[in-house]
Formats: sequence, C-alpha cells, structure tokens
Amino acid sequence: MSIFRFHIGIFITLAAVVLAGSLRAQGEDVFAFIPPGGKTLLAEVARGAPANDVREILTGKRTRAEWEAYLMQRTADFPVLRDLDETGIATLADYLAFNMPLPEGSVPADPGKADWSAVLPLDGRDLALENCQFCHIITVVVTQDKTQDAWLGTMNKPSHIEIKITPEQRQALASYLVLNGAIPIDLVPEELRAGGASY
Ligand code: HEC
Repeated sequence: MSIFRFHIGIFITLAAVVLAGSLRAQGEDVFAFIPPGGKTLLAEVARGAPANDVREILTGKRTRAEWEAYLMQRTADFPVLRDLDETGIATLADYLAFNMPLPEGSVPADPGKADWSAVLPLDGRDLALENCQFCHIITVVVTQDKTQDAWLGTMNKPSHIEIKITPEQRQALASYLVLNGAIPIDLVPEELRAGGASY
C-alpha cells in the first residue's frame, strides 16, 4: 500500500469519525449494527436475576461448550436468555469462558445494584471499537469473514503488532469476530462504507 493511499485512508477515517460523532450527538448510535458482545449480554442477563444465580455465573469456570449447555438449562432463572439467538448464546458463552471467574474482590456483593460497566472486563465488540479505528474505519474489521487463526494472523501483521492489547484480548477479539463479523456491507451505515470493505 502506498503512503498516499494510507493518507487517503486516514482522511476517510477521520471524516467517518467526525460524522459518526455528529450522528451520535443526535442520539443515534452509528455502531448499532455491530452485534452486542458478551459484556453487554451478561449485564442484561444479570439485571433483575436472583443474586445467587448471578454470583454462580461470575464465580464459575467452564469451557465455552460447557457455558453454552449451562445457559440453555438456565432460561427459567435468566429469562433474557430466551431472547438470544444461537449466535447471542455462543457470544455470551465465549465471553464467559474467557473472563470468568472474575477475580476475587470484583464480584459485586449486590449484583442487582452493580455498575456492570465498571465490573466486567471488555468484550470483543468493545475491544474492536477501542483499538481498531485509529488507522481505518471499523468496517474494514467487521465485514471480514476469517477463521480464528486468520484473525490472529491479521493482528500479528507489522501494521498491527503495536496495538496495545494483550494476547488473551487478541484471542477474545478474534473469537468475537468469528461469531459476529462478516457483516454484509448493506447492513453497514452509508457513512461507514467509504473505502471500508476493502483495504
Ligand atoms: C496502527 C494502525 C492500525 C490499527 C490501530 C489497526 N489497523 Fe488494521 N490495518 C492497518 C493497515 C496499515 C492496514 C493495511 C495493511 C495491512 O493489511 O497490513 C490494515 C488492514 C487491516 C485489515 C485488512 C487486511 C487483512 O489482514 O485482512 C483488517 C481485517 C484489519 N486491519 C483489522 C484490524 C483490527 C482487528 C484492528 C484492531 C485490533 C486493527 N486493524 C487496527 C493499520 C491499523
């Protein structure tokens, strides 16, 4: 890629970010098309659920497959789970496998009153929005259809090596993108399409 093209890319990115900012100012979330990550899903599931059941999740250690089975069995205790499709359940199970149990001390005493945004680790969606928009628009990321290994390969390229996320976060981000990426371009808002789908 030529330097010139890179600068055009930065320009388009900045234009998109400014535009996205002004849209958000009007109360519209330009990133709403990107599916929720495990943190958001878990906070929704925990809201209104009995404290002991929530604590059981926050202190549990299971593989993704085990979490999936667990969640499917617990829809009576966590009714919100019934609103999730297969990808939603898999995304939540995947997040739990990466992030639970929470470190001792950060499990809230009263989950009903917890400020989940302060308690729960970032999910794949958060990691993408926080780390993957400085040099190109998020569209470059969320429209790609890649395997876990291919995502890790992309993140290990010279262009990405300096991004400050831990190896565990790279795994979690890759895993989120395998489940939720490959978003068709016509679902991406117009202002995030320019130069976005290809690089
Ligand atoms: C420091 C600048 C920078 C940041 C931050 C950045 N990228 Fe990139 N990205 C690039 C450049 C430069 C290219 C084009 C050159 C290349 O492909 O290596 C690119 C291309 C890509 C591509 C298309 C090429 C491919 O390998 O499929 C994907 C996908 C991608 N980036 C994903 C990401 C993800 C995921 C993140 C966040 C973890 C991210 N980028 C953050 C600079 C960046």
